[in-house]
Amino acid sequence: MALVSPSLLSADFGHLADDCEMLNNSEADYAHVDVMDGLFVPNISFGTPVIKAMKRHCNKPLDVHLMITDPGRYVTLFRDLGASILNVHYEACTHLHRTIQQIRDCGMKPAVTLNPATPVEVLRDILCDVDMVLLMSVNPGFGGQKFITRTLDKAQRLRTIIDEQGLKTLIEVDGGIDTTTAPLAVKAGIDVLVAGSFVFGSKNPIETIKWLKNL
Ligand code: DX5
Ligand code: ZN
Repeated sequence: MALVSPSLLSADFGHLADDCEMLNNSEADYAHVDVMDGLFVPNISFGTPVIKAMKRHCNKPLDVHLMITDPGRYVTLFRDLGASILNVHYEACTHLHRTIQQIRDCGMKPAVTLNPATPVEVLRDILCDVDMVLLMSVNPGFGGQKFITRTLDKAQRLRTIIDEQGLKTLIEVDGGIDTTTAPLAVKAGIDVLVAGSFVFGSKNPIETIKWLKNL
């Protein structure tokens, strides 16, 4: 059984409440919220007013993915917005350990995210402090990109390190999840599947989420 975190980046923002309602009625474990600043990634997604609306309409825990430079500046803001999990990029934090502690102190679950080019081995000394590692299987910034297959090998290597350290850290994957890649991801030891265009672009999103959950 995989955990599923549908990405609201692919929702219909003209009918956001309806898409949140769909998630509420689905077996999704989280709602994935992609925040982009146009600096860390070459795109801007949405900000505080939209996230407030998501929180108002969606009763799934928010799995917030910060694709922003120096995310430590906004930890208290995302606590106030009601985030449950706060993902920060390894590449965006000068003092990752401090940022992780701030997230924990604010009562959220800290998660660290790696770009495709960053090896999992850099996390050895921080793994025990995070609840989850998010492996990007596309370069962050846009939905609907192609899954980078090498992510599967990274997931297997990360699973070995987590087991060696006797931890319960979850592995999440984000980008290009579909009928072909989702089963491969689960087989490689990934616990949580983020899916944007695959879920919201499908004819029956509730059934698509159910299918992902049962992998
Ligand atoms: C990309 C975002 C993803 C995105 C995934 O930078 O982090 O969460 O929504 O979209 P799909 O599932 O369409 O690749
Ligand atoms: Zn994301």
